[in-house]
Amino acid sequence: MRGLLYINGKWEEPSRGAYFPTYNPATGEQVGEAADGSREDVQRAVEAASQAFPVWSHMTALERADLMMDCYHRINEEFEQLAEILTVEQGKPLQEARNELVYANSFFRWFAEEARRIYGDTVPANSQDKRLLVIRQPVGVVGAISTWNFPQAMVTRKIAPALAAGCTIVVKPAKHTPLNAVALFNIFEKVGFPPGVLNLITTSTSSEVGDEFLTNPAIRKITFTGSTEVGKYLIKRSADQVKKVSMELGGHAPFIVFADADLEDAVNGVIGSKFRNAGQTCICANRVYVERSVKETFEALLVEKVNQLKLGDGLDPGTSIGPLIDEGAVEKSKEHVADAVSKGAKVLTGGKRAERKGQFFEPTILSDVNENMLICQEETFGPVAPLMVFDSEEEVIARANNVPYGLASYFYTKDLSRAFRVSEKLQYGIVGLNDPFPSVAQAPFGGVKESGIGREGGKEGIADFLETKYISMKIYSE
Ligand code: SIN
Repeated sequence: MRGLLYINGKWEEPSRGAYFPTYNPATGEQVGEAADGSREDVQRAVEAASQAFPVWSHMTALERADLMMDCYHRINEEFEQLAEILTVEQGKPLQEARNELVYANSFFRWFAEEARRIYGDTVPANSQDKRLLVIRQPVGVVGAISTWNFPQAMVTRKIAPALAAGCTIVVKPAKHTPLNAVALFNIFEKVGFPPGVLNLITTSTSSEVGDEFLTNPAIRKITFTGSTEVGKYLIKRSADQVKKVSMELGGHAPFIVFADADLEDAVNGVIGSKFRNAGQTCICANRVYVERSVKETFEALLVEKVNQLKLGDGLDPGTSIGPLIDEGAVEKSKEHVADAVSKGAKVLTGGKRAERKGQFFEPTILSDVNENMLICQEETFGPVAPLMVFDSEEEVIARANNVPYGLASYFYTKDLSRAFRVSEKLQYGIVGLNDPFPSVAQAPFGGVKESGIGREGGKEGIADFLETKYISMKIYSE
């Protein structure tokens, strides 16, 4: 499969004529190649999006919504092919790929519905002859930079609210998963959006695209999912042109199990949260805190269930954990385990690279972990669950909050008063209470502190693509 650039409603060769390969992380085999877009290509895409903006933003919300619902139906029609390319290029088990696609497509449906609810306000004036109105308008051309861990959902979570708001968009997918974006844009082509509304620049040199987004005055908003380090760079540099930004950055989720929890449900929750996508999720459990009195029971149950997980190629039926995205990811898991063990942690299961072809790391449980270990300070983005014990609610909340990140957090309890107390005190944008899977299109997803700015999904997700305009009007007497 060879992917081209999509600019102004046409598939185009990259200006420098170069392509880059993409690989299946389970086998190391080449999946295909994608156009290696350059800065010049981005400039043409931004120009096309600028030309399309007046057309798209002047269409009615219902007209925009109809095209978005067409995307939704066509994605459902091509569901299995899309799921397969997701697994082949990204590695996750096929059933997880299907789950991601359902989630990805739900953004089209939700934001198609939300397009009609971009309401304004009237505000009481100070005098009889004035009328004060507030209207909401699209911000303009959007530059979107997405990531490889959810190559469909992270793209649609940006495109759908932008389209609903009336913005046009240039998308740069991750270099590990460009063919997923190409597959999605094939669907957009069939839907027949006005040329220039949606543009795709695949590239192996992300910085060229980023630089053009940052310096081209036609780009009025940058929406990014990725590391906190890159997010900070984009925030700093976008200040030069005071662009709007939405940043969905790194997390370091605490997962707290109180003694009064349903322990079996909590064990399943850790497994669902930590090992989904082989731990390559910004919202996955990164620090598991277990109340001391249930430590032994919890650990035994967790190890028993983790030992039943099956590593393998995502296309093989029965695989529950796929490969990591690249060698760097395997190295990071190795480094975190080695550092923890050197400081006193015990490996309860797993702990090393799997002895098989491909970039696999064994699902791993570490016990007797503490906050001096690297694994408690940075995201692992791999299938390693570090366990710690705690003695009181106050103590565990302080420890859970004592990181610069604030994306997702989880806790398990059956005590209603504790449910409120702890939810309110956790300094995180998302709280999963007895729930390891909080992400849905209709709820706001995003973090506080160094985990980001803005929200994707929910009614908040569309607000991030709108400007507020205030109109003060004098009216004349008859
Ligand atoms: C992520 O945090 O990596 C996205 C996962 C999700 O939306 O659930």
